[in-house]
Amino acid sequence: MSAGQENRAVKIYEMANAFAQRLDLDDLIPFALERCRELLGADGVSILLIDPEKRELYFPYVSESDPEAARKLFEARIPLDCGIAGAVLKSRRGELVLDAHRDPRFFSQVDDKTRTITGSLIAMPLLNKDDTPQGVIEAVRRVGEPAFTTDDMTLLEQLAGSVAIALENAQQFKRIRESEDRLRIEVGALRRELARNDRFAEIIAVSPAMSEVFRRAEAAAASIKSVLIQGETGTGKELVARAIHRISTRADRPFVAINCAAVPEGLLESELFGHRRGAFSGALEDQVGLFRAANGGVLFLDEIGEMPIQMQAKLLRVLQEGEVKPVGDTRSHKVDVRIISATNRDLEIDVHERKFRSDLFYRLNAFTIRIPPLRERREDIPLIASRLLEAAARAHGKTIQGLTAEAVQLIQAAEWPGNVRQLQNEIEQAVALAREGETLAPAHFSRELVTGPGHPISSEPSAGAQARSDAEARPGPSPTFGASLNDARARFEASFIADMLARFNGNVSRTAVALGVSRVTLQKKMKEYALRGSASGN
Ligand SMILES: Nc1ncnc2c1ncn2[C@@H]1O[C@H](COP(=O)(O)OP(=O)(O)OP(=O)(O)O)[C@@H](O)[C@H]1O
Ligand SMILES: [Mg+2]
Repeated sequence: MSAGQENRAVKIYEMANAFAQRLDLDDLIPFALERCRELLGADGVSILLIDPEKRELYFPYVSESDPEAARKLFEARIPLDCGIAGAVLKSRRGELVLDAHRDPRFFSQVDDKTRTITGSLIAMPLLNKDDTPQGVIEAVRRVGEPAFTTDDMTLLEQLAGSVAIALENAQQFKRIRESEDRLRIEVGALRRELARNDRFAEIIAVSPAMSEVFRRAEAAAASIKSVLIQGETGTGKELVARAIHRISTRADRPFVAINCAAVPEGLLESELFGHRRGAFSGALEDQVGLFRAANGGVLFLDEIGEMPIQMQAKLLRVLQEGEVKPVGDTRSHKVDVRIISATNRDLEIDVHERKFRSDLFYRLNAFTIRIPPLRERREDIPLIASRLLEAAARAHGKTIQGLTAEAVQLIQAAEWPGNVRQLQNEIEQAVALAREGETLAPAHFSRELVTGPGHPISSEPSAGAQARSDAEARPGPSPTFGASLNDARARFEASFIADMLARFNGNVSRTAVALGVSRVTLQKKMKEYALRGSASGN
């Protein structure tokens, strides 16, 4: 192989490689044109594409020996049906023209513009898979240079095939990408719109204090700062956190919640940051961790005040660096997560007492929302109660007529240390106790509430309330507010079933009828709560 041939082989190899590497089109095409120009010994190789709206050809890609000519070509436009390019587009067949500037079809304005005289020229159509033309690839030599040969034409024809495929793929990809972007924008807008229409639908409130909470939640949703939600237990911190996510631009990305108090200290780091398989005993699989699961969205750190101090340092580092490193891993992963944290503690006191890192506190507390306790917004109580009552009645399949005036007075005056959650428990229990068609009266509510300071029982206790009082006389755990709803429900259910069994002298069948459940269901519950019926069993 001669040196010239070897050089040629190297260039063809490089060109094929460039296509195989699927480079970005704007790197690939100029590179390929440059190599092709060298191979052909051409003065210029360029691509002309169709602008269908203007019915013109333009030169998006040019490789020229003369930079000034290249600049002029980028600006040039040729009417679609003019020139040799126009003829090639029409016939879809390549052409080798020996003396182009003498050819009657030649579009001389381009030569005028570039101040050159074209000698020989090869033009090859760029055809899509369905044979429709998208443009032309042209190689030119100036007058005085030797003319192109048919070998040169074959080489350009091969390049034209590869370029046409690359261009068509890129266009298809662009179209898909654009419609995908459009859809994504539309979905996001629709979701935000939906959320905006019932932005705080599940948060029931009429008080000015809560309007302020909503106002701040909206402001928080619109900013990108970290948000800290403070409020006593059961005030609705999580509801507000979810609402902020729902109305923010991250609505279509995940909302991931973790209760920092509920995860054992040793596991918190791997929960949050993930771990590699085998990082510690029990780590059987790789786990991505909540930070990465929440990527692009919101991570809700509930009860942040309970986070151990060493963990606070690690969290701070992640927030500062925007990267998490899974336990047992050597690599870090970039994360873009918005933090909403919540606490029922006074973190400033904790900071003062060095139980909470001040740098982390300031980082999390870029924006604070304080949710007032129920006793500071008593005007919300009747509405919340009646909505919760509807829901509970529906769940129990009962018709309840609402609350008596005394009951409203009672609940509105109560202290509610457990806030809305406690109110919810009370209403659920009262609905369970009430008979079909009844109106909830003070007697349906728990004794603490009824006999609380300044709230004497204002009407005769109903049979249900009597049963309940008996139940409470039994030794056993008293209801602790702030415990989970499931615990409270289970505790209540156990004592309620025990009462009913007592009323029916332990007769399971009659108790089941009275409770409106099947015998089997009742027996399951009795087993679950270790309750016993009469010896006869029915
Ligand atoms: N304004 C409200 N309207 C309707 N339901 C509410 C409202 N506030 C709270 N709730 C309900 O009360 C319960 C407690 O709410 P949430 O879990 O958001 O409170 P929290 O402040 O996070 O409590 P904790 O500190 O105990 O975690 C939930 O069942 C929630 O649906
Ligand atoms: Mg909570």
